[in-house]
Amino acid sequence: MGEEKIDLTVVLPTYNEAENIKDIIERLVSVLEDAGITGFEILVVDDNSPDGTCLIVREMALKDSRIRCLLRRRNRGLSTAIMRGIHWARGKYVVVMDADFQHPPELVPILYMKAVKTGADVVVATRYARGGGVEGWSRKRLLMSKLANLTAHVLVPPTRKTSDPMSGFFLVRKDRIRLETLKPRGYKILMEILARHPWLRVEEVPYVFRSRVRGKSKLGAKTVVDFLIHAASLSRMVRFGLVGLLGALLNLLVMTGSLLAGAPLDVASILGIEAGLLFNFAFHERWTFETRMRGNWKSRLLGYHAASAGGMAATYTAMKLLVVAGLASPIVGQAVGIAAGFGVNYGLSAGKVWRRREIAGGRVQEARRGDKKLY
Ligand code: GDD
Ligand code: MN
Repeated sequence: MGEEKIDLTVVLPTYNEAENIKDIIERLVSVLEDAGITGFEILVVDDNSPDGTCLIVREMALKDSRIRCLLRRRNRGLSTAIMRGIHWARGKYVVVMDADFQHPPELVPILYMKAVKTGADVVVATRYARGGGVEGWSRKRLLMSKLANLTAHVLVPPTRKTSDPMSGFFLVRKDRIRLETLKPRGYKILMEILARHPWLRVEEVPYVFRSRVRGKSKLGAKTVVDFLIHAASLSRMVRFGLVGLLGALLNLLVMTGSLLAGAPLDVASILGIEAGLLFNFAFHERWTFETRMRGNWKSRLLGYHAASAGGMAATYTAMKLLVVAGLASPIVGQAVGIAAGFGVNYGLSAGKVWRRREIAGGRVQEARRGDKKLY
């Protein structure tokens, strides 16, 4: 014992789980041994729980070197605790799960074996595939959870690889992710991992999310807002729209300035349009599509002009069709047209101008720019 090479690390983030921690560790050890998995460790990441969770773990660790407790001095949140756990994990495979029995320990060997067998980079324990479910949830809570799921799927395309991107129960292959690229904004670390590494191969295993028997949940209602901000910030389409909005403002500003300076109307309009386009282009390069900005920027600048022209043509055509068919007033027609134009512009930009497929390491730039040690 102890000398064997560790292949699997189970990370248990904890805050005040004194009532659960001993039982869950014992259960995990017996489940893993029963499955014939010997090269494992159990790593608790505790945020200095006042109830002494970490002390209990350290007592157990004296008798079993496969058990460890990492103690953080302050409570710095669930996501960074998980990142810290993955960072210190010795296993090639890392399972992240709650320490309160809401995630059944029996599933851990199944996640592990699925990863080994399929070669997947991530295996998600899902509540929303056939065979999965939740226990004791109100209709409202279930609806909220499903809405959040849908929001993630719409806004953050890489999450579509799993039916449960909100899951707090999953396996990752440590060598396939770069922790320094993660921004642990919300507490949905799985969504963050999938979004920052869009090339990951994902499998899933269904399970039933149990109700909590002992201890209290720490994740309150404000997490809904957190989640929405998190999902929006990961969404390329939202970034694209924000940039476009600012670009439109600049467009109007430059046009006004030019008119005031005595420029003829057509010139002022074209100056405004071009200023907006250049602004948009710069921000799409550096922000919206930051992982795809390699190669020749001049051809992308040209392409972006074409994409924008395509968007404007779509706006105009949609408006005209609706008005001529008597389906909408000019303003409503124009509004629908703008939506269509946005779609066309975004589609062409994402699909043609910045179409480079994201490959492993594509986010390195961002890591260098952004994060110091956040976890
Ligand atoms: N270290 C640390 N720091 N651990 C924490 C913190 C923290 O700030 N907050 C919570 N934990 C630990 C808890 O002790 C528990 O082991 C686990 O993280 C999950 O916390 P709960 O408070 O039990 O979360 P939940 O049951 O409401 O939410 C769970 O289900 C969600 C899906 O509905 C979590 O698994 C979520 O990640 C998941 O999205
Ligand atoms: Mn819980």
